[in-house]
Amino acid sequence: MALITKAVRGTRDVLPVDSHLYRYLEDTALETARNFGYHEIRVPVFEHTELFERGVGDTTDVVQKEMYTFLDKGGRSITLRPEGTAGVARACLEHGLLNDALPCKVSYAFSCYRYEKPQAGRYREYTTFGVECFGAPTPAADAELVALAVEYFNALSLTDYRVELNSIGCPACRSVYLEKLRAYFAEHTNELCGTCHERLERNPMRVLDCKNPVCARYAEQAPVMTEFLCGDCQTHFEQVQQLLAEFNILFALNPRMVRGLDYYTRTVVEFVSEVEDLNGLVLGGGGRYDGLIEQLGGQSMPGLGFGLGLERILLHLQAINAPLPERENCELYIATRGEQALAVAAKLCADLRAEGIAAQFDIVGRSLKSQMKYADKIGARYTCVLGENELESGLAKLKHMQTGKEEEMALAGLGERFVQQLIRLAQEELQAWFEE
Ligand code: HAM
Repeated sequence: MALITKAVRGTRDVLPVDSHLYRYLEDTALETARNFGYHEIRVPVFEHTELFERGVGDTTDVVQKEMYTFLDKGGRSITLRPEGTAGVARACLEHGLLNDALPCKVSYAFSCYRYEKPQAGRYREYTTFGVECFGAPTPAADAELVALAVEYFNALSLTDYRVELNSIGCPACRSVYLEKLRAYFAEHTNELCGTCHERLERNPMRVLDCKNPVCARYAEQAPVMTEFLCGDCQTHFEQVQQLLAEFNILFALNPRMVRGLDYYTRTVVEFVSEVEDLNGLVLGGGGRYDGLIEQLGGQSMPGLGFGLGLERILLHLQAINAPLPERENCELYIATRGEQALAVAAKLCADLRAEGIAAQFDIVGRSLKSQMKYADKIGARYTCVLGENELESGLAKLKHMQTGKEEEMALAGLGERFVQQLIRLAQEELQAWFEE
């Protein structure tokens, strides 16, 4: 049979064998953020296009080349979110959260959409874990933001990455820098790509993160922002670094990091994989954006946050063999012989499930042999067989599938005793682990 269509290029199906890994990454993310005072926010997948044009910046690659934009049936221009910050900031503004207790801290884990060239770790639909903090102007906020990402990586046992830090100043000192950049690139205008040609006038900093190899080569020699920071930005940046040192967070300064979105001011940060095969893959990034809220029509309010790519984090964790949770399988599969046994199995499963135990019985009408094969395939921890003898005696043999060990158990009150059995098993496993 030929499928009429396949998944769209750059999108991925997360199958049941892997979905628990994403649940783990997301749950750990939101829980770590909660410990830093962040609460989850959920916002729509699509927004009015102008939000991203204004928020992310209409000279960025994201807005110029990568957005999924369409007219809806009412003729409105709509865009699938290419990133989290703009929509989240819009929602916080729209619902007055920024008039409430500050700082306002929100977190999220959701899908984003960018029309990029797909490759390992780069998809057209990807999942981001992000946090945004509004109303915190001090360097302590920047340092705490980096500490939160590091805490998340620690919780995942994610090693072999580096924290890169830079400051891209405020509008005042940046305007001096932009003039220097324009003057530098003016000598190479004709060699830059068409898009950068245009950007040179409106936003020469965008040339610095252009993926075109010629533009990238010139960008390497361009003057850097840190040489032009004003006094306040310089002090802020130094204090962020001091605090990170006090938090024992190692970082490397990267004066060439500019980030690909327009809203950043002052501190910018990236978390870069050092796993050889992943080739400097950026696991996430973020920074301060003190002008964004005003840009979106709100009051003047500092803000900062980061976004991490969960697909990339999973690739990295797998590459370093970090411990990942097992999928939770069936705890007890009750195989049956005969109609009466089936009815009892259904009742026992209901009792077990009421105790929070994943239990299954045959709903296909298979032979006992096929039922046992199925139990093995789905990785059931225990099995037991119910037939006439078991129903008569009220006793069944519980088999631990991995060791083959069997134990007789009474069927009456199985749910409760099965819980005890699992606790005992967990204790035995723990004991064995201590003795190793
Ligand atoms: P970003 O650097 O554009 O920042 O994206 C953040 C992370 O999302 C990237 O470092 C990467 O791990 C992941 N990512 C981005 N695009 C893709 C893709 N096509 N495929 C797979 N992963 C991808 C932002 O989006 C900002 N909103 C971060 C932020 C939050 N800044 C302040 N608050």
